[in-house]
Parts: sequence; structure tokens; C-alpha cells
Amino acid sequence: MPKLGVNIDHVATIRQARRTIEPDPVWAAVLAELAGADVITLHLREDRRHIQDRDVRVMKQTVQVKLNLEMAAEEAITDIACDVHPHQATLVPERREEVTTEGGLDIIRNFDRVKRCTDRLLARGIEVSMFIDADPRQIEASKSLGAQAVELHTGRYADATTAAEQDAEFEKLASAGQFAVQQGLVLHLGHGLTYRNVQRVAAIPGVCELNIGHSIIARAVMVGMERAVREMKELILG
Ligand code: PXP
Repeated sequence: MPKLGVNIDHVATIRQARRTIEPDPVWAAVLAELAGADVITLHLREDRRHIQDRDVRVMKQTVQVKLNLEMAAEEAITDIACDVHPHQATLVPERREEVTTEGGLDIIRNFDRVKRCTDRLLARGIEVSMFIDADPRQIEASKSLGAQAVELHTGRYADATTAAEQDAEFEKLASAGQFAVQQGLVLHLGHGLTYRNVQRVAAIPGVCELNIGHSIIARAVMVGMERAVREMKELILG
């Protein structure tokens, strides 16, 4: 059964809109955990637009389930990750002007930079997951760097506007997922997943973790964090 990683970044987005202390993403993490989240995911961006350094440090002390830090493969962020020591680091691409993470990390093109970061994280005992497109070459590159897991980008599947397009994107995810598992990598999926599109990908054989943020926080604003997490978890467990 896949595990649910709840990304709480957008609780911090609301807080940063007023540069105040509420709502606190740490509270959101506690409620998500109480409702059955298996993983708490947060993204410390270089521009600090939502999650702040303090959030990562406090969550390391308070989160009882697995803590997954999404991060760019940059030296200054790697310093923080090595200091805080989350269970897992998910390496993502970052561009300052983007609204959210667009596309997977191109490990082949950024090989040396990603390798420097990965080597440091692995030496510190932090598990590394690569957020990549459903592309066998990126999976092989992830494996060659010693990553334990890959998170396949589900954005194109989620954004598909026709059934045929969605089917095609689903097939890419399913076959790349199978390839990753054959390579001995732990399979994660994430980005753009919602209460309506999650079940199909949750059923891909070998999926271990689904990381979901926007849709859960959007629902939580209406129905509360615990109910939003519980409803997503029920869908994933089928
Ligand atoms: N996985 C990764 C690597 C991400 O960067 C994000 C967005 O921060 C997510 C999952 C969650 O995406 P969404 O907010 O669309 O559910």
C-alpha cells in the first residue's frame, strides 16, 4: 500500500502572505500526522517564499513520522539539510520565477552539481530521492548517483485535458515506475495529484509514497486538516 506524504508548504504560504506567525505549518504537520499522514514533506526554497529555516528545524524536533525535505541541489541548502538531518531529501529543480516545481530535475545535464549534493547527503545518512520525469535515462542516472528512491513527476498526467492524453501519461508513469522498481529503486510519485486523479496512479504496482500538497491544503481550508488528510488517505488505500 502506498504511503501518503502530506506537503504542508501552502500553510506557510498563507502565513508568509502577512509575514506573521500564523497559520503555523508545524501545527498543520501535527494534525496531518494525527489523521494518518505517513510522511511530512516540506520544501525549503532558496527564495524562502513559504517554508522558513525555523520550520524545518522545529519540524525535525516535532514530526514523529518520516520527514521529507524537498530541496534544490545547491550548496547552501545542502548545508542546512546536513545540519538538520531529515530522514529523506528529495532533490528538485528550482527556478525563482516559477509558480511551483515545473518539470523534473534533469540529472544528466546537472550531473556534477547533483552528485556533489547527493554525496554529502548520503555520507550524512540522509536517504536521497530524485524528483524526475518518467524517463528511463533519468532513472538510470539517479541510480548511478546512489539515490535510494525516485519520485516521478505526475504533473503531465494531472494536467491532461483529454482521456487519451491522460491515458498516454499514465502509461509513461506505469512503465517508468516498473523500470525504476526493476533497478532496485523505491518508487514515489507526486505533483498535481488531487482527490479526483489520485486513485489511478496509487494503483501502479510498486508505488511506495505519494507526495501531495496543494489539493489537500485547498480542501483543508474548507473542511479542516484532519478530515482532508483522512479523505485522501482513504482514496489511496482504496
Ligand atoms: N513532489 C514534489 C517533488 C514537489 O515539488 C511538490 C510541490 O512542492 C509536490 C510533490 C506536491 O505537489 P502538489 O502541491 O501539486 O500536490
